Amino acid sequence: MEELAAGIRADGGTALVVAADIADRQSAVDAVARTVNELGRLDTVVNNAGLMHVGPAAEASPDDWDAMVQINVHGLLHITRAALPHLISAAADSPRRIADLVNISSTAGRVARPATAVYNLTKFGVNGFTEALRQEVREQGVRVGVVEPGTVDTELSTHLRDGVREAIERQVEGLELLRPQDIADAVAYMVTRDRRVAVNEMLVRASDQSW
Ligand SMILES: NC(=O)c1ccc[n+]([C@@H]2O[C@H](COP(=O)([O-])OP(=O)(O)OC[C@H]3O[C@@H](n4cnc5c(N)ncnc54)[C@H](OP(=O)(O)O)[C@@H]3O)[C@@H](O)[C@H]2O)c1
Repeated sequence: MEELAAGIRADGGTALVVAADIADRQSAVDAVARTVNELGRLDTVVNNAGLMHVGPAAEASPDDWDAMVQINVHGLLHITRAALPHLISAAADSPRRIADLVNISSTAGRVARPATAVYNLTKFGVNGFTEALRQEVREQGVRVGVVEPGTVDTELSTHLRDGVREAIERQVEGLELLRPQDIADAVAYMVTRDRRVAVNEMLVRASDQSW
């Protein structure tokens, strides 16, 4: 992260790295407060942190389920609740008169499949929360949207248990997966629209992906 920040600064941008465990409410609140204190305002928040464990429900580790709910649901809620007042005030007094909150869901937020029941639970929840919140803060100038990636080549699958990871790797073998930049592009598109345009939802699959 520090290397990435150094690259942004070298290109003339501004970057701040804040380490936080967003599953811990106080840590999330402190991260938002430090960001606002040091950068002066909060115009855009992307709730990207997430975790996926997969496997048959009857054999799953309850700890894996708890970790997914803690990060994908509670973490997103902690950051969102802490950030909303700042997003509302940025929309009121910033030159663009708009602020953005983008939640990263998944195709698993739209399509339920065996072996991903709890991941589906968290991502369907993210989609429902996003739509309700969108309606709520729309008039205060905050756009709330959701991006639903298909399979992206990231470190997500490194958290999977042995055996499961190999099964997933076989499922995607030979496919040209999405790259993180593809999802970053989708987010950048949403948050750079004129204030009269709200892109509420983007489903981005790899061209090769059928599910
Ligand atoms: N990869 C896919 O195929 C795919 C598909 C659909 C949706 N998604 C979603 O995309 C999002 C990003 O996932 P990814 O694929 O980029 O996975 P990843 O490579 O494993 O990255 C997950 C990120 O979440 C952060 N994170 C995890 N727990 C955290 C916590 N308690 N507090 C703060 N940060 C935490 C990690 O930070 P550290 O590394 O510092 O722990 C890491 O930066 C997730 O919401 C995921 O569900 C991914």
